[in-house]
Amino acid sequence: MAIDRVDAYLVAHAADFEDQLKALLRIPSISAQPDHDADTRRSAEFLRDDLRRIGLESVELIEFPQGHPLLYAEGPQVAGRPTVLIYGHYDVQPPEPLEPWHTAPFEPTVVGGNLVARGATDDKGQMFTHLKAAEAWLQAGGGLPINVKFLIEGEEEVGGANLAEYVAAHRDRLACDYAVISDTSQFAPGIPAITYGLKGMAYFELIVHGAKSDLHSGMFGGTVANPLNALATILASLKGPDGRVQIDGFYDSVRPLETWERAEFAKLPFSEADFLAKVGSSSLEGEAGYTTLERRWARPTCDVHGLFGGYSGPGPKTVLPRMAGAKLSFRLVPHQDPEQVAKQFRSHVARVTPPGVTVEVIEHHGAPAVLVSVDSPGVRAASRAIEAGFGKPPILMREGGSIPVVGLFKEHLGVDTLLLGWGQDDDNLHGPNEKFSLADFHRGIKASAHLLLELAR
Ligand code: BES
Ligand code: MN
Ligand code: MN
Repeated sequence: MAIDRVDAYLVAHAADFEDQLKALLRIPSISAQPDHDADTRRSAEFLRDDLRRIGLESVELIEFPQGHPLLYAEGPQVAGRPTVLIYGHYDVQPPEPLEPWHTAPFEPTVVGGNLVARGATDDKGQMFTHLKAAEAWLQAGGGLPINVKFLIEGEEEVGGANLAEYVAAHRDRLACDYAVISDTSQFAPGIPAITYGLKGMAYFELIVHGAKSDLHSGMFGGTVANPLNALATILASLKGPDGRVQIDGFYDSVRPLETWERAEFAKLPFSEADFLAKVGSSSLEGEAGYTTLERRWARPTCDVHGLFGGYSGPGPKTVLPRMAGAKLSFRLVPHQDPEQVAKQFRSHVARVTPPGVTVEVIEHHGAPAVLVSVDSPGVRAASRAIEAGFGKPPILMREGGSIPVVGLFKEHLGVDTLLLGWGQDDDNLHGPNEKFSLADFHRGIKASAHLLLELAR
């Protein structure tokens, strides 16, 4: 049977696939850093060439006046069969700071069965599994069993606006019966998962301005506002000791967790002690009245990501800085509207800002949370495919990360996305020593190959 030839092809080409992924990981496609624009493009070209080589059609780099190219490809038409749209991203997060890396971030290295490199799991390694599955069908299976479209972007990690516009303007080209993304995690080693919910996000930058220039803190301290102190006051007002966000109206549209869902989460094998040990933290915190999994997956949060202003060089310097700033975000849950949250945040900041400073609120990317149906033919097909690839059927779970394109697919194409993550929650995505298990890489390829057949049925 064709699927047996496909499976045999995967075994025979396992080493080639690893070499190809390593070559892709050597390209530092850091979308946020203009110095790496040429590398980011090279990463798109690498994938374009691979898609052409394995036999896809209409392979195209879509250019925009600004930003990084989008890659599109289609499998040969298979009349009478459904269509699956597979999304991934070839851009990666900056590797900095570099000190905690044990190996060079763009020199992929195998350590204990894991491939260590920036982008290994997020998302080059996971995305690449679907290319290799398509390759196996085209090269050994007598052709793809289903209509396939690939959409691979280079601005996911910077929240670029090009993709949103492209999806809205190309509904016909992207029309599909199923959308598939591998850019999430399994529940744990040996426990593969299908993710049915992701958080949304509202990201802001605050800039606090004070006196017209830096001032000696002995001469002026205690008499005029210090923007860093003012910023601390504003940030401290965002969350209460009960872990709840203290912005008026913030929870108005948040629905209570369903009883069945709390029961399902509670059944999962989760140890708080193991979790703490894994992240290297001494105690848990968060919104009162919720378990750790509930907080991670289904309750909104607020976190500061960066602070700037004043003096942070070696030794002391006694200064009232003229300005200070912070980057922060809210992770949102279904039914919260990022624009509404932005309005609420702005009026909260205006209310709590101390006298003597002015605050600028800059809005970065926003995305609504997503929740997809778990009772669908797509989820059943994906479960069978994951069982074929991983040897075990998947559990259902939610995650706290955000993938804005899922909301765009729902809005413009009318489809729910199958979130089939091959990663692990200790893969260190966005952090140092990012990794992806090579065993999971190969299992993911096999699951994807079976998925193409299962979805065609
Ligand atoms: N792959 C992640 C999202 C993710 C990570 C989902 C872990 C589930 C579990 C994606 O590349 C990402 O980093 N998304 C950003 C959002 C984006 C708008 C910058 C995020 O979640 O911070
Ligand atoms: Mn990702
Ligand atoms: Mn990411």
